[in-house]
Amino acid sequence: MCGIVSYYGKKNSVPFLLNGLRRLEYRGYDSAGIAIMKDGYIKTVKKAGKVDKLHKKIKESPINGSIGIGHTRWATHGEPNDTNAHPHQDKTGKIFIIHNGIIENFSTLKEVLIRKGFNFKSETDTEVLVNLISDIYYADGLNFEQAVEAALNQVIGTYGIVTFCIDEPNKIVAARHGSPLVLGVGNDEYFIASDTSPIVEHTRNVIYLDEGEIVTIDDNGYSIRSMHDDTIVNRETTEIEYSIEEIEKGEFPHFMLKEIYEQEFTIKDTMRGRIDPVDGKAHLGGIDDHMNRIKDANRIYITACGTSWHAGLIGKYLIEEYAGIPVHVEYASEFRYRKPIIDSNSVVVGISQSGETADTLAAIRKAKEFGALTVGICNVVGSSLARETDCGIYTHAGPEIGVASTKAFTSQVTVLFLLSLCFGREQNISSQTGKKYANALINIGDQVKTILDESDSILNVAKSTVKADNFLYLGRGLNFPVALEGALKLKEISYIHAEGYPAAEMKHGPIALIDEKMPVVCLAPNDRTFDKVLSNIQEVKARKGVIISVTDKRTLELEKVSDYIIDVPSKHPKVFPILSSISLQLLAYHLAVLRECDVDQPRNLAKSVTVE
Ligand code: G6P
Repeated sequence: MCGIVSYYGKKNSVPFLLNGLRRLEYRGYDSAGIAIMKDGYIKTVKKAGKVDKLHKKIKESPINGSIGIGHTRWATHGEPNDTNAHPHQDKTGKIFIIHNGIIENFSTLKEVLIRKGFNFKSETDTEVLVNLISDIYYADGLNFEQAVEAALNQVIGTYGIVTFCIDEPNKIVAARHGSPLVLGVGNDEYFIASDTSPIVEHTRNVIYLDEGEIVTIDDNGYSIRSMHDDTIVNRETTEIEYSIEEIEKGEFPHFMLKEIYEQEFTIKDTMRGRIDPVDGKAHLGGIDDHMNRIKDANRIYITACGTSWHAGLIGKYLIEEYAGIPVHVEYASEFRYRKPIIDSNSVVVGISQSGETADTLAAIRKAKEFGALTVGICNVVGSSLARETDCGIYTHAGPEIGVASTKAFTSQVTVLFLLSLCFGREQNISSQTGKKYANALINIGDQVKTILDESDSILNVAKSTVKADNFLYLGRGLNFPVALEGALKLKEISYIHAEGYPAAEMKHGPIALIDEKMPVVCLAPNDRTFDKVLSNIQEVKARKGVIISVTDKRTLELEKVSDYIIDVPSKHPKVFPILSSISLQLLAYHLAVLRECDVDQPRNLAKSVTVE
């Protein structure tokens, strides 16, 4: 969702804010704006569209100042235009705010303010909040921080905010509830942002704010307070682990392509130190202390959104087969609002690349209410999911910037493989099977490289199908979630309508759509589902569908019925889903580029969905 940056120091804040907004643009890119405080006045510049447009506007009439706030927006209330862009100001023009989240009771608060004589220029909930702060500040004799807190006490919803007021110059106040904020501590300068990416090139020392915390920065430094119990928070800084190169595109035209190529190494990074090829075992330190409780669980729920949910589905197949524990996979947005059958003997696993997805966090909080053990599988170190779960496993895929998830997905699946191996060796998997399984995973890097080297042949398939308006993806067993993920990738970045289906289920509906214009991507792994999938392919062929087979078993029969074949050099059926996912990422990428779509920032999407 929206990206927040702010600077407090001695330098001109504008270059930092603009650069920071570019780094955060993956969170939302409808409009952007900054506000600068200098010599007793505040100046703001806002522009609908991407950060480049804002940059151009500032270049035409430059501003500067050593205290500044900036925002890139993913619209919730009101269409993306200059007026609805942040920062928003109160009616006196003295208080400015940037906000990520949703104020759910904004219309009630707005009515009260209108009755008091306030009027509003934008359609946003944020303008209501800044006027609420103003109303309290100028009426109640509170200082600015107290007024901000008093206003936030009236808010129902979520927020990450940064605000300042001309009547208390040289001060920034920020607070979080439901939307992430991190404080960067430099040499006589401070940064606040939605994540660490704008901060890392200025300081590696950061403090992640917890729910309900408010931070004030002034000439004396910073202070953090919990709004829950009014206590001062003394938290040590932690160090950002990744390098700047990891958040740059380098020589790649798009982050997405860079991240697809990184999978040759990221999958290995996920496994590093966690797999033992000699005994065919896996070891996951992050869940060690809770291993017995997990093994003895009456059921496991996996809850997630989007691509992470697809990884969860693969996890279900693996854990049930190898550990014999029933696994339910549920969209977090559904799980959070129903009465799941869980208790203290249940385990709830939240999967999230960002670790900040609002629904996934809410589902985990719900699981805690029921007494379940919560486990987080996430990529971003220090994220809310990592901090709020009882234990967890990092995917270690490195920062993922492209909105469509790629390397994070294959790392999530790898973690789930490791998890199933971990449980399985204590339950249903022999040492021999464990060894085969472990070695298949360990050697996957070379097979990933082979797929990446074959990118041009996937490009040719894309060129031949680029005019299609619809795609169907079919898979069975472990590869059904891969079909879902392949279809999601395609629609996210190319805007081609695509559906994933269990291959056999196709004849209960989607078969009606098949004609000579419909490409059907069929996952045909060399396992017990191969012949069944082949039969399903014949059914599609009989209706003149265009067959794109993705396989590690090129038989004559398959060649005969396929219009195109994408080879997957898999050495073990259990790693086929990881490898075939990478082929499907490349297919989606090439189709999107051929259709001249904005691959890294697809329309209407955001990478980290911190509102429900
Ligand atoms: C958004 C992104 C998806 C992602 C989903 C879940 O919709 O566009 O790529 O899969 O959120 O995100 P998470 O960070 O929880 O994995």
